[in-house]
Amino acid sequence: MATELIVALDVPTLDDASRLLDRLGGSVRWFKVGMQLFTATGPAVVREIRSRGAKVFLDLKFHDIPNTVAGAAQSAAALGVEMFNVHASGGEEMMRAAVTGGGREGGARPLVIAVTILTSQAASEADVLKLARAAKASGLDGVVCSAREAVTLKRELGADFKLVCPGIRPSWSETGDQKRIVTPRDAVKAGADYIVVGRPILAAPNPAEAAKRVLDEMQAA
Ligand code: C5P
Repeated sequence: MATELIVALDVPTLDDASRLLDRLGGSVRWFKVGMQLFTATGPAVVREIRSRGAKVFLDLKFHDIPNTVAGAAQSAAALGVEMFNVHASGGEEMMRAAVTGGGREGGARPLVIAVTILTSQAASEADVLKLARAAKASGLDGVVCSAREAVTLKRELGADFKLVCPGIRPSWSETGDQKRIVTPRDAVKAGADYIVVGRPILAAPNPAEAAKRVLDEMQAA
């Protein structure tokens, strides 16, 4: 599968999100909805994205008792998102509940992706790998990781285990607060299945042009 671009809709309101969708909807096929936007708009933003034919990564990082996570997964699947995530540190029973709860009758279930250890916390590669293995053993489809870890994770967990990689910065953009950054080209070459890009596109003077540059760079990799 060719690497897909997911644009992080890190904006505060439905109006802001709709404006971006107007500009990017023609070229970008995946959008990430995180806590800020979902808390403000609820499911309306998911419907807005889906009505334009694009796919949704619901980035709410579920982490609770298995029964509660199963319910959240069921709600996410009912909304029609194509991907959502949970914290691997919630344990294998919780992760299995997310996969089971996300099942849809007669339809493909959303991809269930694990967050291993937040990049804001100190972690060794061994810790990340241990949680990623637990996620795979629990039936999850992949993990969020730095593209710098992609080669190792693909080797250890197999080509089919999806890698969703934020911390992407094209050479022409500002670094911001991301420290361990990788260019779109290098992320594709390292084996990322999805790259998540926010500010380099959102904060660009012309977001559509910036998205096109990222997509061109990915295609040329
Ligand atoms: O603006 P930027 O490209 O840094 O946005 C990256 C997106 O990916 C943000 O929505 C951020 O919350 C998310 N993310 C991240 N690092 C992680 C996990 C998620 O930057 N480890």
